[in-house]
This record gives sequence, structure tokens and C-alpha cells, in this order.
Amino acid sequence: MLSDKMVKALNEQINAEMYSAYFYLSMNSYFESNSLAGFSHWMRMQAQEEMLHAMKLYDYVNERGGQVVLDAIAKPPAQWNSPGEVLDDVLAHEQKVTSLINNLMNLALDERDHASAGFLQWFVSEQVEEEDNVGAVVDKLKLIGSDTSGLFVLDQDLGKRLPPTVQ
Ligand code: FEO
Repeated sequence: MLSDKMVKALNEQINAEMYSAYFYLSMNSYFESNSLAGFSHWMRMQAQEEMLHAMKLYDYVNERGGQVVLDAIAKPPAQWNSPGEVLDDVLAHEQKVTSLINNLMNLALDERDHASAGFLQWFVSEQVEEEDNVGAVVDKLKLIGSDTSGLFVLDQDLGKRLPPTVQ
């Protein structure tokens, strides 16, 4: 059985993951309207992955006898000035999510909730991977600078991202 405090914190994280999906879907639309199909696809995969994260938390709360209470999802930004600005925002967002996951883990440890700590370890590892993946795209964009042919090649590359899976 989860404590009320843990249920509340997990519910907040479900909302944060759903907001992440919304945030990346907005970026998907931005790239779509700017004819960068590969970036657009990458963002759509990213949005789908966030929904899987939300549902993994959702199922866990139910499995442990808690109730998921859905809250409103905040409106995401819709306008950026360049692909680099978008990816910088993605990295900053993932870093923020990492701190949210760390806070959740701290709560689980404080409460001696070993089941939640074990469950949350997956998210801790996932955040390392997320920051690494996004950081690689940020670095490539920095190398590319204003070289449009480099941007074209990266767009092709990002278009190959496979649909996400969550174990
Ligand atoms: Fe669900 Fe990108 O963290």
C-alpha cells in the first residue's frame, strides 16, 4: 500500500510526464510546419515515449492500491527561433524531469518504501539515457551551426528513430 504522500507525488509525476508528451508534441508540430520531417518524427517518438512513462507510473499507482487523479495539463510553448533553440529546451526539460525523479526517489527512501524505490530506479536509469540522447543531438546541432546541408543530413538521421518501448 502506498502512503498518501507517495500517491500524491506519483500523481504529480504522471502529470509531469503527460506535460512532457504535450511539450514534445508541440515541438513536433513546430518542425512539421517548418518542413523538417526528421526532427518532427523524432519529437513524435519522444512524445510517445513520455506517454509510456506516464502510463508506467499510472499502472504502478493502481497496482499498489492507490488512485490516479488526473490534473489539468499546462499549455506548452508553440514557437521557437531555430532547431537549436528547440533542442536546448528539450535538454533543459529533461534535466528538470531528472530532478523530479530524484525527488520522488528521495521520498521513497525517506518513507522506507522499498517497492517504490525499486520501481523508480528504472526512471533514474531512463533519465541518464534521455539526457545522453538529447545531449548528442544538441552537440550535433552546435557542430552544424549555420550549415544547411549538415542540418539536412541530421534531419534524415533523426527521421530513423524507432518507436519507443518500455519494459
Ligand atoms: Fe519521461 Fe523524458 O522523461
